[in-house]
Amino acid sequence: MKTFKITFKFYLQLTLFIYSVLVSFSQPGFAESKGESLYLENCAICHGTDGQGGMGIPLSLDDFLKSASEDYIKKTIRLGRPNRIMPSFYWMSESDINEIVSYLDSWRKSPAPKWDSKTVKGDPLAGKLVYKNKCASCHGEDGRGGKGSGLHFSRSIGMIITPPALNNQGLLNSAPDAMLHYIINNGRKDTPMPSASTLGLSKTDINDLVSYIRSFHLKSIIHKPLYSEEPASLIQESPYSFDETVENVKRAITGSNFVHIRDQALTSGFDIETKDSPRQTIIYFCNFSFLYDALKIDPRAGMFLPCRITVTEQQDKVLMMSINPKHLSQLFNNDALDESCDQMYELYSGILEDASL
Ligand code: HEC
Ligand code: HEC
Repeated sequence: MKTFKITFKFYLQLTLFIYSVLVSFSQPGFAESKGESLYLENCAICHGTDGQGGMGIPLSLDDFLKSASEDYIKKTIRLGRPNRIMPSFYWMSESDINEIVSYLDSWRKSPAPKWDSKTVKGDPLAGKLVYKNKCASCHGEDGRGGKGSGLHFSRSIGMIITPPALNNQGLLNSAPDAMLHYIINNGRKDTPMPSASTLGLSKTDINDLVSYIRSFHLKSIIHKPLYSEEPASLIQESPYSFDETVENVKRAITGSNFVHIRDQALTSGFDIETKDSPRQTIIYFCNFSFLYDALKIDPRAGMFLPCRITVTEQQDKVLMMSINPKHLSQLFNNDALDESCDQMYELYSGILEDASL
């Protein structure tokens, strides 16, 4: 029988690992205000320490700030961009979000705009045609956004900023028509986003485009339940001895078309091997086409590759453990990656079950 449960130790290790990655990327430096430190903790890893952009869009550029009202930024932080890389900060307090909004205000050269909520009147069908000719090459078919995460590996080198998804409910619930109109009319200097005059768009074209983009708006945002019941790791007890279990895992890996890479004892690198040390071996394995596909979808998958299964012996019990890919997909918020995580889940559970037969 399968027993899945969270091991606290594993969870702690994972948390510490993610934390150390975040710290090394964001290099917080010295924060002068609460808003700045919240920004450095939660946003800088993707939007850059000075808002210069990275995996996320530049937030300190004048042309972005001229288009972004405080209300827009607040809603964007709260809703995120479901199924894109921008996470939802659904858990953040209202006052912390306000602190971040004020911190972004400190980058402004002119007062924040205030957009009215009037509907722009245009023809969405005509807009669809203009979109196809003038926008789809960057923003993708049906406004689904540029591909990839924004890292060099997953986008063309010429495109320094991944074009956002325009059919996204996070965007559509945050940006009123007047804001979309402004962005399409003005473009954004210092980004690839061209202005209407560069593209030769008429006033009618702009209205039609706004109506077309608005036609994707579903009015209610469907939140996937976050951090639901999925435990952080998969654990299965083995009826065999420690050494037999290690061999069984290797056999099951090869049987599932993976390549066994190497084993590593828990104590490797440390000079602390004694008779009482718990026995523990990590078995690394890989399927190169699977690995390549996962990295192409989202380079963050690299944090959890190559695949590994840990075998331990504790108080006469032999356990096999792996990460739970379904738990990871909840953290990543990327539909395309969910599919690989589901596949990986089937593979891991299959291997653990095989090895205990
Ligand atoms: C050459 C590529 C390119 C083309 C063509 C282009 N865009 Fe963009 N667009 C971008 C990029 C890149 C951004 C992000 C800019 C930034 O960093 O602020 C963007 C941003 C936007 C935004 C803001 C979205 C958000 O999440 O804030 C809207 C709206 C938009 N574009 C609409 C359009 C429309 C409509 C067209 C066609 C008339 C179009 N774009 C053509 C590259 C492009
Ligand atoms: C894991 C990376 C990541 C993190 C963390 C993140 N963002 Fe984003 N953000 C993105 C990406 C990517 C986009 C573009 C959305 C798209 O591709 O459709 C974006 C878009 C945005 C936009 C809309 C930009 C526009 O052109 O209108 C705002 C505003 C924003 N993020 C603010 C924030 C703030 C504030 C935080 C911290 C509280 C934050 N983000 C954290 C990746 C991230």
